[in-house]
Amino acid sequence: MSRQEITIGLFGFGVVGKGLWDVLEQTPGLKANIRKICVKNHDKPRPISTDHFTFEKNDLLDDKSINVIVELIDDPEAAFEIVTKAMQNGKGVVSANKKMIADHLEELLEMQKKYEVPFLYEASCCASIPIIRNLEEYYDNDLLVSLEGIVNGSTNYILTRTSEDKISYEQALQLAREKGYVESNPALDVEGFDAKYKLIILLLHAFGIVEQPENIFNLGIQRLGALELRLAAEKGYKIKLIALARKLENDKVIAFVMPQFVNPASRFYTVDDVFNGVQTETSFADKQFFIGRGAGAFPTASAVLSDISALSYNYRYEYKKMSQESLSLSNDFSIEVFVRFQHKDEVPTSDFISITEKYRSADGHYIVGRIGFDKMIKCSWAQNPGVSILLTPAFNAEPYLHKEQDALKSEGVGIRIQDTKSFG
Ligand code: HSE
Repeated sequence: MSRQEITIGLFGFGVVGKGLWDVLEQTPGLKANIRKICVKNHDKPRPISTDHFTFEKNDLLDDKSINVIVELIDDPEAAFEIVTKAMQNGKGVVSANKKMIADHLEELLEMQKKYEVPFLYEASCCASIPIIRNLEEYYDNDLLVSLEGIVNGSTNYILTRTSEDKISYEQALQLAREKGYVESNPALDVEGFDAKYKLIILLLHAFGIVEQPENIFNLGIQRLGALELRLAAEKGYKIKLIALARKLENDKVIAFVMPQFVNPASRFYTVDDVFNGVQTETSFADKQFFIGRGAGAFPTASAVLSDISALSYNYRYEYKKMSQESLSLSNDFSIEVFVRFQHKDEVPTSDFISITEKYRSADGHYIVGRIGFDKMIKCSWAQNPGVSILLTPAFNAEPYLHKEQDALKSEGVGIRIQDTKSFG
């Protein structure tokens, strides 16, 4: 197969941009060179000659010798403008900007068709794990049933370091920042938004679903408190931030981001530090597991490099699942959750379908029980930053038929209360 030479216009020279520069220098076999780098900050000292830089985006976008724009900037709206103009000018585009892609998925799909240009973004999800291309190419006929993963490196790093080194959350966050794992707005990581943007991209390639960020529930690690951290340690669990998309028996797909207690039997239990792990399940292959570094300069640059190489072979995503199945998301399912709260009657037991454990103490109360997801995300207590909600180790998402279950409750048999203190 013939291979075209790639001349790159690079936007951004932060952690990943510099990583790409270094990685390309060490990959002489790939016929790709960076023609010019566009940056925003005039005063920032640069580790390579200033001759390589410009502050004018059209120097890259209008340069006919540049056939690929690699966009690695922080600002999602500025990134979208750059990507739009690059596509209009007939250039292939590589991006790592998950927020920009999740926010503009539909427009980006349309533009790829309209301008007949490739747009690749492997680095936007799980950095070094080649998950998008696998979803796109490998899981084609043996269709996916579920995809579940730790898809955010910085929160996994924070959770690991706080529990293993007994350092504070602030110290762990600072360390993650120094290593270049954290978004410039750390709330995107710790509140589960970054994981949600990645989940939106994965949903497209796994199930052909295009969804807006506001329609998918995300809860990060920001509400975790001493009680649940202590409980995890006592029970031999770890807490992981999980992004999940799963086809239920009624052919609806469920998707959300939430923290979960995981037990040692879970594959996610040993995915620590900045590592990401993604488990796929298909009808025939059963379960498979991908693991790799989920953030940082070189792991992310390696995915960008792979996209550049793929472009040299004229590769583009075909979005095969969009034409294979017509699936949509639903919040009509139930899950088992652990809910920790401060004030005695703040979380009514009547909101649950069944309860397996209730605990009250001076340092907080908790309920473990099965609840309708749609109901949970609309409850006023679930919006309270003082209320922590985690999936139990075996949270078993099940289709939730409101009417039948509400009828059970009104007959007084829907709520089961035990005091076993052994959830999971
Ligand atoms: N902030 C992101 C993370 C970077 O921690 O996973 C990689 O996408």
